Amino acid sequence: MAQPQILILGPPGAGKGTQSSNIAGEFGVEHVTTGDALRANKDMDISDMDTEYDTPRAYMEAGDLVPDEVVNAIVDEALTTANGFVLDGYPRNIEQVEELEAMTDLDVILSLSVGREELIGRLTGRRVCEGCGANYHVEFDQPAKEGVCDECDADLVQRDDDSREAVENRLDVFEDTTVPAIDHYRDNDVFVEINGEQQPDSVWADIKGAIRRTIDG
Ligand code: AP5
Repeated sequence: MAQPQILILGPPGAGKGTQSSNIAGEFGVEHVTTGDALRANKDMDISDMDTEYDTPRAYMEAGDLVPDEVVNAIVDEALTTANGFVLDGYPRNIEQVEELEAMTDLDVILSLSVGREELIGRLTGRRVCEGCGANYHVEFDQPAKEGVCDECDADLVQRDDDSREAVENRLDVFEDTTVPAIDHYRDNDVFVEINGEQQPDSVWADIKGAIRRTIDG
């Protein structure tokens, strides 16, 4: 059987990245993430695309969406070569929903729900390893030595878009632009809402069960 094609939706800080790693490991699919792809190409020259800024960096640091043209091309290329995937960070507006529908079918659509105050606490307290990308939290998930990654000894830093101001904007953009995109999928037979406010292990148990039930069907 072909590997499953899974979409994971949810607000910034809902745990999409955390749970996508679990899904990729358990189901042997590729983790396709627009956020990581854009962070690796923040200074890519997009001036020929008639966009407001010349690189993705300015959009991302403010917590705004990078123009569709840039993101659509990243996803199209990644999905073309993937044998099964968990897609994280896309689509984020109705135009991207339409693009994705033209690119591929989906076997499971997961939507993580978490309240705004919890999201603000998770994101403003997050610290990320400069070396391997591992995530920590200043209160809930501290490294053994402050400011240093347990895995690779590199420094832990705050993501540019995890400042309070950028987080508030990201959540506003989510409410205004991404919630209508998620609502588009709600009537789909393979749409499953997951309570993302539980402990990570409980969220993962719900996700694993939902994927198995949907693909075994
Ligand atoms: P992106 O990197 O996709 O950021 P995001 O959607 O804002 O999501 P995050 O990575 O912040 O959170 P997450 O849901 O993955 O949560 P995580 O697992 O890390 O996008 C960044 C930017 O790129 C966008 O703002 C935009 O500019 C641009 N971009 C990306 N895609 C785009 C698109 N399609 N179109 C246009 N522009 C695009 O968890 C967060 C924290 O919570 C961690 O510290 C974690 O340890 C903790 N945590 C996780 N689960 C739990 C739990 N159950 N309980 C307690 N803590 C938890």
